[in-house]
Amino acid sequence: MAKYIINYLDKKSLINKNIYGQFSEHLGRCIYDGVWVGKASPIPNVNGVRSDVIEALKHIKLPILRWPGGCFADTYHWKDGVGKDRKPIANRYWGGTLEDNSFGTHEFMDMCEEIGCGAFLSGNLGSGTIREMVEWVEYIRDELDTPMAQWRRENGREKPWKLEAFGIGNEVWGCGGQMKPDYYADQFRQAAHFVSTACFGGMAAMLSGLRPEKTMILASGPNANDFDFTEKFMKGISGGFMFNASSGNLPADGMSLHYYTFPNFNADNLAEMSGNPLASLRTANDFDENAWYYLLKGAAHVEDLIISHDHIMSQYDPQKKVGLMVDEWGAWHGVEKGTNPAFLFQQNTMRDAVLAALSLNIFNKHSDRVHLTTIAQMVNVLQSIILTEGDKMVLTPTYHVYDMFKGHQNATLLGSFIENSMVGPEGTQVNKLFESSSVNDQGNILCTICNTSIDSSELIEGTLYGANAGEISADILQNDPHACNTFDDPDKVSVTSWKAEKTESGFKCEIPAGSVVSIKINVR
Ligand code: AHR
Repeated sequence: MAKYIINYLDKKSLINKNIYGQFSEHLGRCIYDGVWVGKASPIPNVNGVRSDVIEALKHIKLPILRWPGGCFADTYHWKDGVGKDRKPIANRYWGGTLEDNSFGTHEFMDMCEEIGCGAFLSGNLGSGTIREMVEWVEYIRDELDTPMAQWRRENGREKPWKLEAFGIGNEVWGCGGQMKPDYYADQFRQAAHFVSTACFGGMAAMLSGLRPEKTMILASGPNANDFDFTEKFMKGISGGFMFNASSGNLPADGMSLHYYTFPNFNADNLAEMSGNPLASLRTANDFDENAWYYLLKGAAHVEDLIISHDHIMSQYDPQKKVGLMVDEWGAWHGVEKGTNPAFLFQQNTMRDAVLAALSLNIFNKHSDRVHLTTIAQMVNVLQSIILTEGDKMVLTPTYHVYDMFKGHQNATLLGSFIENSMVGPEGTQVNKLFESSSVNDQGNILCTICNTSIDSSELIEGTLYGANAGEISADILQNDPHACNTFDDPDKVSVTSWKAEKTESGFKCEIPAGSVVSIKINVR
């Protein structure tokens, strides 16, 4: 039995709804097939975008969608993807395929409007220009009859779109341009200055009190534990004459962190593949008990990374105005047999669902600094919430976790504590339970808990301080560790209702091995 304490009087940070975002790149079958089928397709669609995917995303209240990359973003020239005559583009990073650019700015922005989610664009700093980025935001946001707004109107869109976030480059330390952090900090300052001026106006606009609709300006950030990057970047963007109306005295609303969780390598394969580790990864379903824990322990490491990056950021931004945006995360398994290795198509099991649940609980717990996350990637790539094949669609176990956690969006994190133990073999031990709890606008509580043990259940005894529990209900995602949803058996892993027994001080609830449970408590 583990004691679980929830303190209703300890209201902490806002859990920004953008923690529940998704990432969609021109990679493999994410955009083409996964999202975009074209208006003439026999697959039901809304202006060319699959209707089944739109409905699934509405259901989980998708708050924000990142596009067009990823590495692809720093090769993408948005002007080639608007209007009638579109230039094809070779997708050099991801399989060298030729794309006809039929999915471009209009298709993406309209899709976000249809879903009701925010649009997050990754700008091309690596091989593009500041002018190109500035004109992109003008094309999208300008009401005045500027040349870019005129062009947008000619292309069929009268009103501006709402632009939630704009990223200045992606993985600038790698595929985004092999930059050093000090160099990028300078590049960022310069680009962010002109992009935010295009969004909000410059000094004159600020002095006249103009407050146009906000677009967050986001920086590319470190890979995993590259703390030197964070230190140099934060130092590099501090100081100077900043007058951007959006983000106070630092020119960034957020800095990204990329952290993927890799399974243990397949040593036999490694030899076979002449040392290319990515080609030697085990597939999503190729795991034993040790590998179950190996992956989950790896995922839980994101908490250490958040704490450490936050510590560095706090020296320059103690008020935590600059968010740590984990805009690429999730399990990176080997590709499914018979699929193109450059397309990164993988299955998704209960192990991935537990990984998602533990990560989202960690992000909630650190929502004072983590303001946004987008799991990689939304459809058919890496740890997807949706898989498609022709006209069929499957919702993965990870999708169901997003469904169970959606009540945390824009709720307030509550102080909570759970008695814990370590599980797993020596060397790959991980906390057994991960939880977070929040209170929404109506004063009601959502607790989400996952059990990382592959074979041992836990009964939790919840105590609620500072409030009286009314009606309590619970849901569970539970199945064999290897269970996944396939096109032949799409509902094998799905959410069912679960039992949480009301007690004098709160509730009792069993959290079975390898499961994810959500508990809703109405407060009287
Ligand atoms: O998500 C796949 C790739 O991983 C992205 O394109 C890149 O940003 C990262 O390295």
